[in-house]
Amino acid sequence: MLELLPAPPADPLWDLAAAFAADERPERLDLVLGVYRDHTGVTPVMAAVREAEIRLAERSASKEYRGLSGNTAFNRAMVSTVLGTGGPAGRATAVQTVAGTGALRLLADLIRRTRPGTTVWISDPAYVNHRPILEAAGLTVRTYDWSDPLRDLREARRDDVVLLQGCCHNPTGVDPTREEWEALAELAVRNGWVPFVDLAYHGLGDGLEADLWATRMLADRVPEMLIAVSCSKNFGLYSDRTGCAVVLGPSRAALRNVETALQNAARTLYSMPPEHGAAVVTAILEDDGLRAAWRAELDDMRARIQANRADLVAQLDSLGHAAQAGSLARQKGMFSTLPLSADGMHALRRRFAIYGTDSGRINIAGIPAHRIPCLAQGIAAVLEQPACAAVS
Ligand SMILES: Cc1ncc(COP(=O)(O)O)c(C=O)c1O
Repeated sequence: MLELLPAPPADPLWDLAAAFAADERPERLDLVLGVYRDHTGVTPVMAAVREAEIRLAERSASKEYRGLSGNTAFNRAMVSTVLGTGGPAGRATAVQTVAGTGALRLLADLIRRTRPGTTVWISDPAYVNHRPILEAAGLTVRTYDWSDPLRDLREARRDDVVLLQGCCHNPTGVDPTREEWEALAELAVRNGWVPFVDLAYHGLGDGLEADLWATRMLADRVPEMLIAVSCSKNFGLYSDRTGCAVVLGPSRAALRNVETALQNAARTLYSMPPEHGAAVVTAILEDDGLRAAWRAELDDMRARIQANRADLVAQLDSLGHAAQAGSLARQKGMFSTLPLSADGMHALRRRFAIYGTDSGRINIAGIPAHRIPCLAQGIAAVLEQPACAAVS
């Protein structure tokens, strides 16, 4: 039977990670995956997470099944963290998911169960997994230009769904201004499409509240909305697979079938989400001290990302590339898109052992501060000798 299996397409990100692992040059620099690294190059366990884990271990809670919606205290905590208390939170329901990816997939399943054949609009460029997740759920995908979403989204019709990254757009690092977000909300209300917000980096752009501003503003304005929340980056729980699918309806009554539909989707995919990360997040959010410690550490992470970007911008500027530095300065969050073509990114890899994606995306949070000068020099060298890039 297995000989019938056609060769599947390779995963571009994990393929690059494997190429990096096989590169023996000591100066190699991995800026491919979206993972926060501290100044020593380590992805730390946050102090509040460590403390919550100790408390949970001491309580030695049972590992009994939790139910298809996962940890319900976690779900409540996620809704109030993302939407605040009162207002739209009163017309929201949520289930725990297998991280942000699981939330995207579960909500995609909900869309298909509600209205098969729905068109979902994703940005161009998009997070690499958006299209495959939506298509795997049987949905039709169209794209809108991320540099001018309002133009293409004028074509989005009533009952279409529009996937928007709530902050720190992956891969570009460029977010709409508040005025542009307001215009998007107005368009959604006028034309009747449903916003589907993917929240994976809140807290790592301009701060937690500022990064949630667009999501909350949309939630205030539109009757229906879907939100996929990931705790991977802002709690550093990457491998604990912790996230939440939130659905907003025009009223509580309109949500009566939603939780069961999400549970049914979960049952056929993985049954129940893993408890550990959700228990950790709940322990942090329900304890004033741990919550404050988490917020402070998240702020420190954000400050380090901002300092890395500012340093790279300054170095590029001083090397005579003011225009490129200027465009990097406008980006935010874990990723930046370098002003380099795929050939340029290959050259960066070949000549300087610096690994980003072919689209030019690099993980700003993954650069040790002392390596920023050589990153800037590498970028400058490739910008100045593009012909050298082409012969790779
Ligand atoms: C935009 C975006 N959405 C969702 C995710 C999913 O994250 P996870 O499944 O690890 O929580 C990611 C991860 O990189 C992302 O960049």
